[in-house]
Amino acid sequence: MSVTEQSSAPRDGDRTSGAPWWRQAVVYQIYPRSFADANADGVGDLPGITSRADYLESLHIDAVWLSPFYPSELADGGYDVANYRDIDPRLGTLDDFDDMVEALHSRSIKVVVDIVPNHTSDQHAWFQEALTAGRGSTARDRYIFREGQGPDGSRPPTDWESMFGGPAWTQVTDGQWYLHTFAREQPDLNWAHREVRDDFLNTLRFWSDRGVDGFRVDVAHALTKDLSEPLPSRAELETLPFDGNHPLVDRDDVHEVYAEWRQVFDSYDPPRTAVAEAWVHKARVPLYASPEGLGQAFNFDLLQADFDASQFERVVRENLELAEASGSSSTWVLSNHDVTRHATRYGLPHPPREADGEPSVKHGLEWIRSGGTNPELDWMGGERRARAATLFMLGLPGSSYLYQGEELGLHEVAALPTAARQDPAFFRSAGADLGRDGCRVPLPWSNSAEEAFGFGGGGSHLPQPAWFTRYAVTTEEEDPDSTLCLYRRALELRRSLQTSEDLEWISTGDPEVLHYRRPNGWEVITNFGAEPYPLEGVNVAIASTGMEEEVLPSEATVWLMPGSA
Ligand code: NOJ
Repeated sequence: MSVTEQSSAPRDGDRTSGAPWWRQAVVYQIYPRSFADANADGVGDLPGITSRADYLESLHIDAVWLSPFYPSELADGGYDVANYRDIDPRLGTLDDFDDMVEALHSRSIKVVVDIVPNHTSDQHAWFQEALTAGRGSTARDRYIFREGQGPDGSRPPTDWESMFGGPAWTQVTDGQWYLHTFAREQPDLNWAHREVRDDFLNTLRFWSDRGVDGFRVDVAHALTKDLSEPLPSRAELETLPFDGNHPLVDRDDVHEVYAEWRQVFDSYDPPRTAVAEAWVHKARVPLYASPEGLGQAFNFDLLQADFDASQFERVVRENLELAEASGSSSTWVLSNHDVTRHATRYGLPHPPREADGEPSVKHGLEWIRSGGTNPELDWMGGERRARAATLFMLGLPGSSYLYQGEELGLHEVAALPTAARQDPAFFRSAGADLGRDGCRVPLPWSNSAEEAFGFGGGGSHLPQPAWFTRYAVTTEEEDPDSTLCLYRRALELRRSLQTSEDLEWISTGDPEVLHYRRPNGWEVITNFGAEPYPLEGVNVAIASTGMEEEVLPSEATVWLMPGSA
């Protein structure tokens, strides 16, 4: 083995030199309605999270990120916010929120909350006011209202489609239409309106004052829009470059918004942090991740990659370069609340690439559509590859974002009854897209199906399958080889090793094996191939799978420490 090159990871991220906490954090995403249910009404809540604070501590994570817990009609799982400065009564109260923050902070776990600035709920007081205030009012100007086409305005202003399928415009009773990039219950805000900007600054202060450490910014690339007439058609939109002047997304002027947010973040000590969900061209990601902007941006490339050495290597190289260009650290994600869980993705055949060669984020959809019967899921293979991919990811410099349940090796739940489904993607596509409910099923804490697997005892708002018993926390805690025990060991060790952001690639001479070195003599090797890879005289600290001989088995990762076995 020989060292081939030094990576270009940023230099100042060093736990021992006081780099900001988020640069190399492990952030655990909680989908509050499905995490733990303290009042046994079948829906997870904030006291439920507080009651599991010891569990969170046992994972050795640095922060939790909570998906929206605000009052909401749940047209989009809480991403339709009716009031940005309150708690959904089904999930608790502001006092419960404070208790949760205290419980987490006292265990050195930071708290990141989701902020949803592109759209409100149609139940938000502003939208209700806009409906009654009528044409030309200031209230309507907080949103994007237009007249329809045709002599009586009965056709939408454009033929644009919403992200969940169906038209992006909905008509109100006086004949005007409003724009919604997502569901019709999620009207887009007008970010050219000063009051909209000021109100979000107040929201950021509201949560920061309550001790929140950071924000995950939903659809960060879509806030500002140029809707001057004539509006382009859908076909015309598709021909427009994403160069900062696109009418709808990734406009340069969105960074004026984030420069104002940065002033709020930096007025706190320590400064509040943010991470952008920005689906933009790679070259433009650093604009969101810059220290003058949100500070960090999600990279979803691993989540879209197949379990494949060359794809993983390319993703890491590209994103470390991008992170350096922005002055931020990279982020890594294998699962979240919007995609098929990675244990399941890796247990299904690689999906076909999109026509332009781009990977599909819809991996697993055919399988979900068939109720989990076609193609046949390789359960164990999926888990084995997921564990290998996770250890590969956790070795990388930067922040890793984990999604609740992945530490149990949990699979997607495909077979959900139609009546139980909640995702608007399902309803707006007339069932063609079964959507994201399968990764949002409440967690199995114990192996007793009668008590909703320890979720709360009052049932479960999305039905849990009988096979959850195998993945229950109590089941896995008793098995030292479980995925849960692997995550705990790896995260604890990572915390002590992640002292700088350096990464060196080591050539393996095998295109299916990746090997990199991190600080403190820590090395990570992943064998993506079908054949074992020789490993002689090494000191294995952690392996994603059982190891009996001096070889790295197929589809496995090891972390090595200096010294020999
Ligand atoms: C991205 C969120 O992750 C997703 O769950 C949501 O549906 C859309 N943004 C709209 O808010």
